[in-house]
Amino acid sequence: MTIGLRSGPLLREAARRLAAAGVPSPEHDAAELLAHVLGVSRSALAVRDVGAGAAAEYDELLQRREAREPLQHLTGVAGFRYLELAVGPGVFVPRPETELLAGWAVDRARAVVSEGTTPVVVDLCTGTGAIALSVATEVPEARVHAVELDEHACDWAARNLAGSGVDLRQGDMAGAFPDLDGTVHVVVSNPPYIPLAAFESVAAEARDHDPALALWSGEDGLDAIRVVEHVAARLLRTGGFAGAEHADLQGDSAPAVFAGAGRWVDVRDHRDLAGRPRFVTARLAR
Ligand SMILES: C[S@@+](CC[C@H](N)C(=O)[O-])C[C@H]1O[C@@H](n2cnc3c(N)ncnc32)[C@H](O)[C@@H]1O
Repeated sequence: MTIGLRSGPLLREAARRLAAAGVPSPEHDAAELLAHVLGVSRSALAVRDVGAGAAAEYDELLQRREAREPLQHLTGVAGFRYLELAVGPGVFVPRPETELLAGWAVDRARAVVSEGTTPVVVDLCTGTGAIALSVATEVPEARVHAVELDEHACDWAARNLAGSGVDLRQGDMAGAFPDLDGTVHVVVSNPPYIPLAAFESVAAEARDHDPALALWSGEDGLDAIRVVEHVAARLLRTGGFAGAEHADLQGDSAPAVFAGAGRWVDVRDHRDLAGRPRFVTARLAR
């Protein structure tokens, strides 16, 4: 007979270790990792025996999480809206706050469908393909295009987008999709936006494990958003919408990039569920 460890005490000790290592959500992560090791859902963990082999595997993952490897790199997946995306070293882990921007793009695309037109949607800086795949799966009528500069990130996107019908291209967003100029209904982007000077304030998981190209964007963090504004103006048809995520300290400066260009109307900023400024949207005037 195999005498296993009980899941309750194992989880409590794991959460204590993760909290001591500074992990922001220790109970959640302890449970996610044990569920991953056992191949069950978190709700099935309540009272369970954990065999010696699984306990050893769990301990190894806890050590890596204590060293602040992202949870999603250890499980290999990240939840995003209705999706489970493959993630790992070499690609930015999609964040829950970006689900709101993706939802905005979905709503804009649905509005085009309700006018009897096939929506054309472009996701700039697609990373895992999270936003592009959300639009493609939630608005099946949409024609979705996505671009990513980094070749490793693009490999992850290709894996997630396989079979989705999304047109994925590798390259710099600055010159992307010349064939779509003036034809697009919605341009959406979660670009890099952290100021270089904010290096110290960024969580270890992001600073040490998200690719640098996904994070930093010049002195004020707005370099990439300026490019998004230009590219969106080129790609969109008159009246088309652009939406771009930004840092919580850019609730004025990111909208100012659009307002200052003199070609947008309805420039407005949107807050996330925690009330922090999160993304700017605007409509192309001409
Ligand atoms: C913050 S991550 C966001 C990824 C994804 N959109 C998401 O929300 O999870 C930014 C992504 O932009 C890519 N990127 C940075 N500069 C780019 C450029 N000039 N053209 C295309 N992609 C770029 C990075 O490699 C990274 O994958």
